[in-house]
Amino acid sequence: MLPSELVKYKKNSHKIIALTAWDSISGALAESSGADIVLVGDSLAMVCLGYKSTLPVTLDNMIYHTNAVSRGFREGIEDQPLLVCDMPFLTYQCGDDKAVEYAGKIIKSTYAKAVKVEGAEPEVKNVISRLIRMGIPVMGHLGLTPQSYLNLGLKKQGENLESHEKIKKDALSLEKLGCFSLVLEHIPELLAKEIQVELEIPTIGIGAGNFCDGQIRVTADLLGLSDKQPPFCRPIFDGKKYLGDKLKDWVASARLN
Ligand code: KIV
Repeated sequence: MLPSELVKYKKNSHKIIALTAWDSISGALAESSGADIVLVGDSLAMVCLGYKSTLPVTLDNMIYHTNAVSRGFREGIEDQPLLVCDMPFLTYQCGDDKAVEYAGKIIKSTYAKAVKVEGAEPEVKNVISRLIRMGIPVMGHLGLTPQSYLNLGLKKQGENLESHEKIKKDALSLEKLGCFSLVLEHIPELLAKEIQVELEIPTIGIGAGNFCDGQIRVTADLLGLSDKQPPFCRPIFDGKKYLGDKLKDWVASARLN
């Protein structure tokens, strides 16, 4: 699937499902789940590399892990989920030329068909429009943007009038710039609904209620494997305990034999 085809999903009211992956095992699991999009999110900094935030992850880390994820896919290239790679902190906030070079490196050295960037500051908007003109599809990301946590914290966004209006305005401007879809993270459900109605491109929510055109989850959170579970992702089972107990049982029994 090409990024531009996603808009059909919204027109046909086909709910879009996106999962994150960070290596070939999680890539295979995400693909076989039937997810439409697999995002190699910079959350891999925390769920896979043990960092406390997404800030330390590097471009080389993202490329390395995106290649591992696509090696886990089993379907032919036409039938694979749409693979999207996050641009890490300070690879697109550092001027358009560098951003084009870094996004180009992702597209040229992986099977990702699009990049995702956070926010809609003027510098980021310049970069988005330049990337799209250069032939690199961009997924936007508004609301809680973890790369800005030093300024905004990790709290819900859009709760007062000023922030509500800003997110709405930013969403419209990202569509106008040509983003093919928009992640809305940790914002009030009614704000997400207003944006969903106003935009032609699909909105993909996480902690943004049920009115988005799709849902995205960090797979490690969903499987109950993360150390710090975000309040807006209920795990589908207690993976850490279940798998931990199974391994403990195996180690104990292997010692006896
Ligand atoms: O990095 C990530 O996993 C993300 C999702 C939370 C959307 O950006």
